Amino acid sequence: MTAPTFSVREIPVYGDALLAPMDGYSDWPFRSICRQLGSAISYSEFVNADDILNRPRFAAHKFKFEAAERPMVFQLYGESAARLLEAALRVQELGPDIIDINMGCPAKSVTHRGCGVGLMRTPQKVAEIFSLLSRNLSVPVTGKMRLGWEENRNYLEIARAVEENGGALIAIHGRTKQQGYGGQANWDAIAEVKAAVKIPVIGNGDVKRVEDIARLKAHTGCDAVMIGRAAMQNPWIFARLNREDVSPEQIRATLRQHLQKNIEFYGEEDGQRLFRKYAVQYLMLRSLTREERKRILKPQAPQEWLALLDQAYEQMQNRQA
Ligand SMILES: Cc1cc2nc3c(=O)[nH]c(=O)nc-3n(C[C@H](O)[C@H](O)[C@H](O)COP(=O)(O)O)c2cc1C
Repeated sequence: MTAPTFSVREIPVYGDALLAPMDGYSDWPFRSICRQLGSAISYSEFVNADDILNRPRFAAHKFKFEAAERPMVFQLYGESAARLLEAALRVQELGPDIIDINMGCPAKSVTHRGCGVGLMRTPQKVAEIFSLLSRNLSVPVTGKMRLGWEENRNYLEIARAVEENGGALIAIHGRTKQQGYGGQANWDAIAEVKAAVKIPVIGNGDVKRVEDIARLKAHTGCDAVMIGRAAMQNPWIFARLNREDVSPEQIRATLRQHLQKNIEFYGEEDGQRLFRKYAVQYLMLRSLTREERKRILKPQAPQEWLALLDQAYEQMQNRQA
């Protein structure tokens, strides 16, 4: 057996690239597809601590996973250490390997309550949360953060607060809250975090192509790389393929498998409706004619839809020939 790439406490991780948690995207069907293609860890979408406590069925659906996804990380957000602990204890029963605290979400609906990246404004609270959770949970507690709120880039202070209070890993997206998802991610800052702590660090931001995985690792020394938006168009990046190197047969096979999983997870109607946003990305629909695009995106029975896709592919290939 080969040695793990790194470990989160006792949990070995094999591989150095993984799918980033993405609300509305990293559900079981997409995560398991990415994990199968080579993503090293599965992170759930973030779920609010209050929802875990007040809407247990909603939360249980969000956290549904399969054994092949392990190590499985459940991501929670909240701002009260006591509520986060209560929620974490509740979902620990569902069997995750790791529980992660979101300190990066920049959405107003999240930050106005002091959650997400809002937590980075209160390092004392970060310390309190990690101390309480790491003492009371049986699984490791990890954190995903940004560089800071605005110009006040307190990422080193937050990273140390996480480590000193029992946190087992830090994932860092190299942007501030103010930057949102624009501009360039600051990889130098990720390198500073890696140098400042002993726990594993996952670097994140602007990994778009296969070669960026090694570039970010070399630039920062980080243990692994997290890939978000690029994986929506190219989940095959986890199999170390750039989009232009993925064969039409592979795309078709992944599409079919993903649609099938979506229907299994959400039921036929919702499964297909929710699948369309992935299909748009996978297929890079720009290469289809307007008419083909319209037909493919129209709701219809899965079998008809797959037949249409096959047709569109043939036409696309004929045009290219
Ligand atoms: C649609 C969307 C939803 C996201 N939801 C989450 C989330 O639930 N939890 C989280 O920690 N980060 C979330 N993020 C941030 C990503 O995990 C990642 O940090 C960010 O996209 C930067 O990586 P990238 O440049 O590879 O996309 C989200 C990002 C996007 C685009």
